[in-house]
Amino acid sequence: MKNTDILARTAQLARLADARVLDNPRVGAVLLHDGCIIGEGYHQQAGKAHAEVNCLASVREEDRPLIPAATLFVSLEPCCIKGRTPACTGLILKEHVRKVVFAQRDTTDEVSGRSAAILREASVRVKEYPDFAPTEDTNRNRLIYTTEQRPFILLKYAQSADGFLRPRDRSKKYWITNDISRRLVHRWRTCTNAVIVGARTIIEDEPKLNARFFPGPDPRPVIIDLHDRLSGREKIFSGGEQRPLVFTGRKPARLRADTVEVKEKDLNKKAIKKILRKLHELKFSHVTIEGGAVVLNAFLHHGFWDEARIFTGPQRFGHGLPAPELPATARSLSEERIGTDRLSTFRPAAGK
Ligand SMILES: NC(=O)c1ccc[n+]([C@@H]2O[C@H](COP(=O)([O-])OP(=O)(O)OC[C@H]3O[C@@H](n4cnc5c(N)ncnc54)[C@H](OP(=O)(O)O)[C@@H]3O)[C@@H](O)[C@H]2O)c1
Repeated sequence: MKNTDILARTAQLARLADARVLDNPRVGAVLLHDGCIIGEGYHQQAGKAHAEVNCLASVREEDRPLIPAATLFVSLEPCCIKGRTPACTGLILKEHVRKVVFAQRDTTDEVSGRSAAILREASVRVKEYPDFAPTEDTNRNRLIYTTEQRPFILLKYAQSADGFLRPRDRSKKYWITNDISRRLVHRWRTCTNAVIVGARTIIEDEPKLNARFFPGPDPRPVIIDLHDRLSGREKIFSGGEQRPLVFTGRKPARLRADTVEVKEKDLNKKAIKKILRKLHELKFSHVTIEGGAVVLNAFLHHGFWDEARIFTGPQRFGHGLPAPELPATARSLSEERIGTDRLSTFRPAAGK
């Protein structure tokens, strides 16, 4: 078995993590002895055991004597600092692990390259795979969070077959996607720290913005209401699991929510930066913008997006609210069919 095959498994494990990892990286770890996996684990929750700890703890009692002769594979450089939990380099040395293979270095200043050096100094053989793509992808939230001081921004919306977010007749109830797509969206919601929408979406659609169709944590509802249009009677304020956070204009209504004054009249670059700064402060490393057109277009226009997932349903509306247009430089990542719907995933131009 090649090292990269095992690293691919660490990436799979890392992806099992949901939004409870907050600003921490998603990390998976595998312990391999003589071609057999004797331990596996991933980081599940900020402040709780790291992947390496869970991996070593999963080793059966009778296999524990094999640990010094085994190789520990980790999707990211192990940490060497004591934060909410002890340093993983300490655990590796304590357990007498002699070989460590990891993919990318941790972009946290105090860790980057230091952990590898600490291990090498203690005669542990360390091999790095900085260009290994699957783990690079699982680390993207963290990379953006630590280098750009903002969360990873996922745009998600559904459009009719002829490109509308909703039909012209606002009074008509409409549904663009099928049940399977809806469930998938709820699964994604368990992996994001916040779902962001505009005030009009709250007023017209009365969404709950939770993850009720998939087990896992609910995201925090975040509403952008720069003209203070919300009355406080909208359903989102009637006691969900997560207290909404509203970015308001100058005179915030009395809402059952936390409010942050933005003071800008429009959702311009300055306003977006303020919003992102606050979300970063809250340790949100991944947020999802679910609409409507004004909010999606503002983030797209100012280049604040990292991935777009677009569902296209089978129905044609004829007229309505046009769906956003991605920049021509956007790269198509994948296209798949989900029953009657099509799911297209895009990323900004390479090197953005
Ligand atoms: N298909 C999808 O995936 C999807 C997802 C979400 C929403 N939607 C649809 O998108 C629509 C909302 O999108 P949107 O672009 O209009 O707004 P939005 O992005 O949800 O909200 C932001 C805008 O709403 C405006 N607004 C709020 N209340 C308003 C009101 N009562 N009258 C006029 N403007 C109001 C605000 O304008 P001011 O700056 O003037 O206050 C602000 O610019 C809804 O009909 C919803 O059904 C579709």
